[in-house]
Amino acid sequence: MTDMNQKLFRLAPNLNICRVVNGMWQVAGGHGNIDRESALADMLRYHEAGFTTWDLADIYGPAENFIGEFRNRLIEQKGVKELDKIQSFTKWVPQPNIITQSMVKKSIESSLSRMRVSSLDLLQFHWWDYNNAYYMDALKYLSDLKNTGSIKHLALTNFDTEHLQMIIDSDIQITSNQIQFSIIDRRPEVKMISFCEEHDIRLLAYGSICGGLLSERYVGRAEPSAIELDTLSLRKYKRMIDTWGGWNLFQNLLLTLSDIAKKHNASIANVATNYILAKPTVAGVIIGVRLGIVDHMNENANVFAFDLDNSDRDSIDAICGKSNDLFEVIGDCGDEYR
Ligand SMILES: NC(=O)c1ccc[n+]([C@@H]2O[C@H](COP(=O)([O-])OP(=O)(O)OC[C@H]3O[C@@H](n4cnc5c(N)ncnc54)[C@H](OP(=O)(O)O)[C@@H]3O)[C@@H](O)[C@H]2O)c1
Repeated sequence: MTDMNQKLFRLAPNLNICRVVNGMWQVAGGHGNIDRESALADMLRYHEAGFTTWDLADIYGPAENFIGEFRNRLIEQKGVKELDKIQSFTKWVPQPNIITQSMVKKSIESSLSRMRVSSLDLLQFHWWDYNNAYYMDALKYLSDLKNTGSIKHLALTNFDTEHLQMIIDSDIQITSNQIQFSIIDRRPEVKMISFCEEHDIRLLAYGSICGGLLSERYVGRAEPSAIELDTLSLRKYKRMIDTWGGWNLFQNLLLTLSDIAKKHNASIANVATNYILAKPTVAGVIIGVRLGIVDHMNENANVFAFDLDNSDRDSIDAICGKSNDLFEVIGDCGDEYR
């Protein structure tokens, strides 16, 4: 178990991160209108509070540009040294077609330019279709760019254990795999965690508070309709809850989490985050932020103030024992995308 009072984690040599990572999918649309100035002001507040690690992607609308503009403002307001405190992790999510060296170079150059950096802290690679074997070419070209310094650390997102194994067997060094991991979606516990432990690979978890469904807001509430669920994130994880065991079982889980949260003077979202952060090989939990719209920053900071005990974990696991096995229904990590 990890000491929960530690906010920082050494993801790789020369790469310390905040264990609660700010997720930027929310600026890509489907989560309300993002006002650029309010978003940039919020980014500064998160940064000043120590939430210095950002998760983004080439496909998250203006997310990479936000990082670029934010870096500019940090230089103006605090000086260039302040940039040493930020870690920004982007993704490359290409179409599963033929991949050439020049395509890879062009895509990475585009991210470098939008983010206004000379080297990417962590590049997370996603691939939609394992039947198309060009992902291995892509990873080899990305490794070359790591050797030239355009990428500091190479990582994956949504890869299953079998393909992660094939990549490691090809001598490609992988720092982390970003995957869905929550009290509801425990598929990483079946194979991924033990493989990562063996190969010194870290996990970055997303969806750990199910888009906000794992919170006081939904305790005792009737099952929400699709219209009531007004973000892409809420709709995504509601589908996961339906597959997991449905709304009644979810309500039992929320009541249990609510009791645990009260005991620790914390919130349900804190308990859900803390539970995943304490799992082996988990470096951080990415929590989506609706910059300039909704602010959970101070509440989420509380995750570092307590540790769950064995009885807390036992009561959570007892409810999950009544759910469907998502590994059986969906498959390994990332299979929901394929
Ligand atoms: N690699 C991938 O394929 C992939 C897929 C999905 C996500 N991600 C990454 O992971 C990040 C997080 O994932 P996600 O957004 O899907 O799921 P999430 O973090 O579980 O959900 C984010 C939402 O949770 C709510 N929330 C945050 N803190 C809260 C609190 N203390 N109490 C109550 N509600 C709270 C907010 O909703 P409100 O604003 O409505 O309050 C927020 O928009 C994304 O931004 C993205 O960077 C990656």
